[in-house]
Amino acid sequence: MKSLSLTFLLAVSALVVAIPLASDPVICQGELITLSETFIGKNNDVKMEYTSCKGTQVHQKKSALFEARQANATNVCGANCNTNCFTPSGGGPDPNECHVIADALRFASENTGAIFPIPTGANATIVMSYRSCRSFFVNQDLGPLAYCRTDWADLIDFIAPNCQSTQNAHGGNCVATDQRWFVQVQHS
Ligand SMILES: *[C@@H]1O[C@H](CO)[C@@H](O)[C@H](O)[C@H]1NC(C)=O
Ligand SMILES: *[C@@H]1O[C@H](CO)[C@@H](O)[C@H](O)[C@H]1NC(C)=O
Repeated sequence: MKSLSLTFLLAVSALVVAIPLASDPVICQGELITLSETFIGKNNDVKMEYTSCKGTQVHQKKSALFEARQANATNVCGANCNTNCFTPSGGGPDPNECHVIADALRFASENTGAIFPIPTGANATIVMSYRSCRSFFVNQDLGPLAYCRTDWADLIDFIAPNCQSTQNAHGGNCVATDQRWFVQVQHS
């Protein structure tokens, strides 16, 4: 009986550990300066910052598919992304505190608007923080993007609980399949 249930547990955990492990990407080589700061959510307790990288904004990968600089943002709501968990285990954010950020994004979606803009270049990173949890949206495209707040919320609610120490991880990200953007969840 004991070996049967152990086999079952191993099979279940093999199914769960499907997310590849990676090391945390450096978003800004230099200092991430806050350009503007607002508090969102029902209790106005989740900090949202538009930032500027004083130094080198690190883009994970440049692709020939990227469009030239344009006046209008490219809407990437609903676009697919691939999740990576950051190794090793330990020091990740509390998924419950990440969930507060996700709910604040859903609240802002209903009360402020479904879509938000993300600039490009040095200003390509938006940061959301609540207690132990920090989430980044990084635009890697050559032009501005627009994204849905509820999609960001859903990614946070997927990454935070699935990239924990039990997965040998401390947070993770989801990189758009076309590399235009990624959402990261980590300890603040
Ligand atoms: C941007 O969008 C507006 C409104 O849809 C349109 O009139 C304008 O031509 C667009 N600009 C560019 C550069 O595509
Ligand atoms: C970043 O934003 C600041 C403040 O809005 C602006 O002055 C600056 O030109 C922007 N930088 C880039 C590279 O777009």
